[in-house]
Amino acid sequence: MTSTLDELMTQRPQADFPVLITDAQIAEFRERGFIRIDRITSDNELVWLGEVYDRLFEERVQSVPGGYFDLTRPYDSAGEDHQPQIIMPEARYRELRKTAFYRNGRFIAAHLLGVESTNLRGWGHMIRKPAITGGPLPWHQDEAYWDPAFDYVALGCWMPLDPATVESGCMSFIPGSHRGDVRKHRHLGDDPAVHALVVEDVDTSAGVPVPVEAGGAVFHHCRILHCSGSNRSSRVRRAYANEWQLDPVRRETALPDRPWIDEGKRAWENRAIKN
Ligand code: NI
Repeated sequence: MTSTLDELMTQRPQADFPVLITDAQIAEFRERGFIRIDRITSDNELVWLGEVYDRLFEERVQSVPGGYFDLTRPYDSAGEDHQPQIIMPEARYRELRKTAFYRNGRFIAAHLLGVESTNLRGWGHMIRKPAITGGPLPWHQDEAYWDPAFDYVALGCWMPLDPATVESGCMSFIPGSHRGDVRKHRHLGDDPAVHALVVEDVDTSAGVPVPVEAGGAVFHHCRILHCSGSNRSSRVRRAYANEWQLDPVRRETALPDRPWIDEGKRAWENRAIKN
């Protein structure tokens, strides 16, 4: 008999999986804006997370209102998802905050950002690229999605549950690009009802693909330019990420407006009214 999600939550394996972070890795993160680590969690936890992940997507779980959508197609599109995302699964399934992935991610994030781990808040998202039909995510900076009235100290910790290769849609980064400003973005296809943003006017020829084994992880700064490829392989490419950040601080002088954020909000609200 297959378990329900609530039953699965009671089956979380003990996650004793200590990790280390070296000064050289911290220096590399500051210089390049990202690092890869070989393993962040145990085999047992990876198996359990995979079962939870599959069930969440099968049931299209909305852990928070509107928390399931396709990143690269307009909200409410009919048909097959190319790149569905589940936001904040841990808001409903608190066991996801007790994993080695969560704990180690916070520990490493604190060292990379040079802050106390107890001051870091985490929120999760899961992005699924189906075999063959899983689409690419265009070049962007994560901070471009966020309110420019605030300053952020933040990074993403991204773990694939299946091997992330160039063929299956691993991420690529432009080393050092995290030191620049947030650039102008627009919605993919110039449609504000599409969640994904794409950066304008950037030379992406310096992009470096970063394959990661299942259970490994990439930590990346909130301003680094990055993208992921389409999944041309015959197996799904599942990824689970936690964003780690200090509480955002309101800026005294505003940064340039990010009109794409307001455009996106309006499209999102229209969707809520329609539903
Ligand atoms: Ni991103």
